[in-house]
Amino acid sequence: MADLSVRIGSVELANPVLAASGCFGYGVEYADSIDLARLGGVVVKGLFLGEREGHRPPRIVETPGGMLNAIGLQGIGVYRFVAEKLPELHRLGATVFVNICGSTIDEYCEVARVLSDAEGVAALELNISCPNIKEGGIQFGCSLTGTYDVVSAIRKVTALPIIPKLTPNVTDVASFARASEEAGADGISLVNTFLAMAIDVETRTPKLSNVMGGLSGPAIRPIAVRMVYECRQAVKLPILGMGGITNATDALEFIIAGATAVQIGTANFVTPLMWDDVIAGIDGYLDRHRIPSVNALIGALETSGYPS
Ligand SMILES: Cc1cc2nc3c(=O)[nH]c(=O)nc-3n(C[C@H](O)[C@H](O)[C@H](O)COP(=O)(O)O)c2cc1C
Repeated sequence: MADLSVRIGSVELANPVLAASGCFGYGVEYADSIDLARLGGVVVKGLFLGEREGHRPPRIVETPGGMLNAIGLQGIGVYRFVAEKLPELHRLGATVFVNICGSTIDEYCEVARVLSDAEGVAALELNISCPNIKEGGIQFGCSLTGTYDVVSAIRKVTALPIIPKLTPNVTDVASFARASEEAGADGISLVNTFLAMAIDVETRTPKLSNVMGGLSGPAIRPIAVRMVYECRQAVKLPILGMGGITNATDALEFIIAGATAVQIGTANFVTPLMWDDVIAGIDGYLDRHRIPSVNALIGALETSGYPS
């Protein structure tokens, strides 16, 4: 058996496979069928300070090789999360990453403070990339100074590792990785969903109540792999890569492109019991190639003889 452990800032993960935010609830909902302690980590649904209802339905549409969502960051808010969900996640042995949101920098900082004071949070993933609400952080994630400002402000209020989650809806994602690194981030997550839309031609209406939503699933995987590869060249920070991962081979593609860990989102709606297979598949690959540790595979893309 190979060494699957990886490090993101001060957090050591047992393996590099995490559940992505918004596709795994608050984790506890899956505890009857999945041993949460066996996952590298659980990234919970995005949290503001207060509760939010999100957008009205329809909020999800299937598309070729993927789906659109415009949930609108529905959530129970950070105080209820700390009181009602976190103790159970902690008891179950989950490595908990909390995806945090804010309408203002002050709100992000307050959410970060509340979680820093709570027991059982391993890291904060900063959602500055939700494409389907205007005031949910995307205003920071689409601007280099906005990214720098929000990350450096949160850096000042927490000792927890902070991991900005980058949007792919920009021209040069690597410059956002650099801004995150300069502001003191411990890692970066990418990608969030791609802004997209679908139309019902019979009624000539948008299929989502919000008109536009975020595209996820296998359809986005090659673009996400390219973005991880570009960010790997730009920064030294560990990268949590995601976008359309459905199995171990897909996960390995991200790791070879430069991701230290991967997250799986949409595939969980199709194959919720895939986790052991993905982890075992990475382990089997390492054994087959006689690679003792997954760390040796991170960014191991062979490019000699290819154009740079
Ligand atoms: C229904 C749904 C809800 C999501 N909610 C969040 C969220 O709350 N915060 C966040 O940062 N990303 C959220 N995402 C984005 C995913 O975490 C992930 O970045 C994206 O879907 C790409 O990965 P995938 O193709 O494996 O799903 C959501 C995605 C989906 C499909």
